[in-house]
Amino acid sequence: MGDQIENVLHETRSFPPSAEFRADARIKTDAVYERMLRESLDNPESFWGRVAREIPWMKPFERVLDWSKAPFAQWFVGGKLNASVVCVDQHVNSVRSGKRAIIFEGEPGDRRTLTYTELQLEVCRFANALKARGIKRGDRVAIYMPMIPEVVVAMLACARIGAAHSVVFGGFSAVALRDRIKDGGCTAVVTADGSFRRGAVLALKPQVDEALTECPDVHAVFVVQRAKNQISWLARRDVWWHEACAVAPSECAPEAMDSEDLLFLLYTSGSTGKPKGIVHTTGGYLVGTYLSTQMVFDLRDEDVYWCTADVGWITGHSYVVYGPLANGATVMLYEGAPNTPHAGRFWELIERHRINIFYTAPTAIRSFMRWGDEHVTKYDLSSLRLLGSVGEPINPEAWIWYRKMIGKELCPIVDTWWQTETGSIMITPLPGVTTTKPGSATRPFFGVDAAIVDEQGVELGPNEGGFLVIRKPWPSMLRGIWGDSERYIETYWKKFGGRFYFAGDGARRDEHGCFWIVGRIDDVIKVSGHRFSSMEVESALVSHESIVEAAVVARPDELTGQAICAFVTLGPGKSPSPELRASIDAHVVKEIGKVARPAEVRFSEALPKTRSGKIMRRLLRDIAAGVETVGDTSTLDDYSVLAKLRQHEE
Ligand code: WT7
Repeated sequence: MGDQIENVLHETRSFPPSAEFRADARIKTDAVYERMLRESLDNPESFWGRVAREIPWMKPFERVLDWSKAPFAQWFVGGKLNASVVCVDQHVNSVRSGKRAIIFEGEPGDRRTLTYTELQLEVCRFANALKARGIKRGDRVAIYMPMIPEVVVAMLACARIGAAHSVVFGGFSAVALRDRIKDGGCTAVVTADGSFRRGAVLALKPQVDEALTECPDVHAVFVVQRAKNQISWLARRDVWWHEACAVAPSECAPEAMDSEDLLFLLYTSGSTGKPKGIVHTTGGYLVGTYLSTQMVFDLRDEDVYWCTADVGWITGHSYVVYGPLANGATVMLYEGAPNTPHAGRFWELIERHRINIFYTAPTAIRSFMRWGDEHVTKYDLSSLRLLGSVGEPINPEAWIWYRKMIGKELCPIVDTWWQTETGSIMITPLPGVTTTKPGSATRPFFGVDAAIVDEQGVELGPNEGGFLVIRKPWPSMLRGIWGDSERYIETYWKKFGGRFYFAGDGARRDEHGCFWIVGRIDDVIKVSGHRFSSMEVESALVSHESIVEAAVVARPDELTGQAICAFVTLGPGKSPSPELRASIDAHVVKEIGKVARPAEVRFSEALPKTRSGKIMRRLLRDIAAGVETVGDTSTLDDYSVLAKLRQHEE
C-alpha cells in the first residue's frame, strides 16, 4: 500500500463556515465540539446515555455499554424499544403529526406526500398484512423494491412486528438476490412488479420469481403495483400489496424489542468470498443514526432533506430512513435516474420541493459536471443550506465544483466517511464549526476514536500514511456477520490483535488532525461508490463456460472513481471476439447485476503469478492503469507474461 499512500494529493485550500451559518448552527464553536468529543470518548456512558434518552424507550435501559464480550458489543442493555415508534409514532403523538414525512416523486413525474399520521397508518396496515401471512417476530424478510414510499413502509412494518429486513438493491440480479435470501434465511419477500428507471420499466417481480425457484422457505411474496408490467403469479404465494393492505386493520401494536435484537441485515462485499450479511441491532443503531443526522446535517424542523442514495445501500438505511425519520424530518424520495427525462432532473426537484439539505455521492457529482453547467443554472437552488458527499474519496475538482455550482459558495459541504459496518457517519465536518478542505472528511464524530496506525498498530504521526482504525466501540457498530462470527473477528479485529476495529482503508491525518482517506487497501473495488470484491467478480467470470482463469483489479476512472478491469484466460479452442465479450458481460450481469459489469476485459494467455501460484494483482493494477510497474517483480514466476500482457494494450 506504500506508494498508494505516498501519492495522497497535497491540497491546501480551506473553507471555514460562514458567519451566517455558524450563527444559527447547533454547534457553533470549536470549544463546544472539543468538549463534547472529549466527553464522548472519556465518558461514553454519560454521553451516549443522555443522547439515547432523547428517543422513546418502551422500557429504560439499565446499562449503556457492555464490552465484556468484545468484539461483540451490547449497547443500552436491558432497554426495550421499537424502531417504528422512534421513527413514526413519537411524531404522530406530537406537533409533527401533520408534518410531511415523505415527499415522493416518481420518474414519470407522479407525486405523493405522506404525513407522519399517514405514514403510521400505512406502516400499521402493512405490518398487519405481514402478520396475516404468518410473518412474525424473529423472522427475516427480503425487500427488493424501487425507491417508492412503500419501501420505507415495508422496512418500518418489519420493524414494527419484530421481523428483521434484508434489503437487496433493485439493481442486483436474480442470482445475487437468491444468494442473499438463502444466506439470511428469509421467509418472505416484498417487491414491486417493476420500477420506472431511465425512461423504461425495470422489471423486479420476474427476478424474484427466478430467485425463488431455489428458495423453498419463502412462503409469501408481497407485490406493489407500480409499473403495471406483465408479470406471472403464483396464487398460493403471491399477494398484491394493495389487496393485502385494504383488508388489514389500521392499528398494530409495536413489539417491544430488546435493544440488541436484530433490526436488519445488509449484505456487502469484502475482500474475499461471498458477500457478508452485516448485522445491525436496534438501540445502538437508532441512537447513532439519530444523533449523526441531527449534528452532521445541522437538521432543523423546517428542513426538507434529500439524500439521493438507494435504500439498497447503508446510506439509504441510515440517512433516508432511520436517521431522518427518528428526527421527525421531511424526507424527499425520488424513484428515477438523475438524467431522466433530462440532465437537470435533480435541480428541478430541488427547486420544486425547496430542498434545504442535499446529500449525494462523488460519482454523481462528476456526472453532473460532465453534463454541463447549463442544466444546473436553469434552476433556482437558493433553498439549499447544506451539501453532503459520501461513498468514496471526493476529488478536489468535484468538491470545488459542488461548492460553486450547487452551493453557490454559501453552503458548507460535509464529506462523510463511514461504512456499511459502522452504521452511521464516523469522520465528518460539523458544518457550523469545521473548516473544510476539499478531499478531506476532516475530524471524528462524537464517540469515534479514530487513528492512523502502522502494521504493528502503533499510532503514526502527522501526514504519515497508514491503516485507519477505530479504537473504541460505538453504538451503531456492526454486531457481527450473519451466521459467521469467526469471519467477523477475522475480517475486522484480527489484524491488530483484537484491540482495534480495522476499517480496510488507508489514510493519513494532517497536522490539524484532519483525516484524508486514500481508499481501500484490500481487494474491495468501489465502482460509483458501490462495493465489490475482486474475488466475487472473479468467481462470476470463471463460471462462464469459456473462461478458465480470471483476475479482477480496479483501475482509476474519471467518472466512477474506480472501474472493474478483468484479465481472463480462455479455455482451449476459445478465442476473443466481440460476441464473447458480450456474453461475458451478460454473464456477470446475470450472476451479480449490471452494477458489476466490467468496464474492461483483457484477454491474455496467462496471468502473472508468483512461484507459489498467487496471482500478482499489484502488477495487473499497474497494467490496467497504464502505468509502468515500479514495484518489485522478483517473485514473478514467468517474466514473459508481463511483456505479453503489455503487448495487448492498444
Ligand atoms: C467504504 C465503505 C458509507 C456509506 C457508503 C459506502 C469508502 C465511504 C467515504 C468518504 C472516502 C469513503 C471507504 C469505506 N468511503 N465514504 N467520505 N471518503 N472514502 O459504504 O459501501 O460500506 O463502503 O467506502 O473506502 O471503507 P460502503
